[in-house]
Amino acid sequence: MTNVTTTHIPQAVTTPDTAAGVAQFLSPVVVDLTALVVNGKQAHWHVRGANFIGVHELLDTVVAHAQEWADLAAERIVALGLPVDARLETVAAKSTAGSLTPGFQQSQVTIAEIITHIDAALVNVKTAIDELDAIEFTSQDVAIEIARGLEKDRWFLFAHIAA
Ligand SMILES: [Fe+2]
Repeated sequence: MTNVTTTHIPQAVTTPDTAAGVAQFLSPVVVDLTALVVNGKQAHWHVRGANFIGVHELLDTVVAHAQEWADLAAERIVALGLPVDARLETVAAKSTAGSLTPGFQQSQVTIAEIITHIDAALVNVKTAIDELDAIEFTSQDVAIEIARGLEKDRWFLFAHIAA
């Protein structure tokens, strides 16, 4: 029987510098998307007015996507061997998205606020795409996938208030 040992297995799939670069640019994406999960639900619960049911249900889709993409970015960092900090207090301190108006809102207000939230996240996603171009393509691809999805969700929201 083969003597099983892990001593010959490389400790990491990339260099420490590459892992650190990926963590630097994907961590803000994890934070902003985690904030969008929380604020998207807040918006889902408090939206009222025109196209209520469509906006209410679309916001749940936005939340589900944000959760999925936060996980995608976070697990890319962890796959390269570094930890992620998306604790509640870290997200509150570091999210660039700003805050929503509390309480019930008419749907055009809710939509505008969530689009602003998405646009703030997209700034960090686009920075990740630009910077990871010189660091690691596999992680850049994660950021590109997230940008494509966020921009589609932004379109779905914006179409409710577009002329
Ligand atoms: Fe719900």
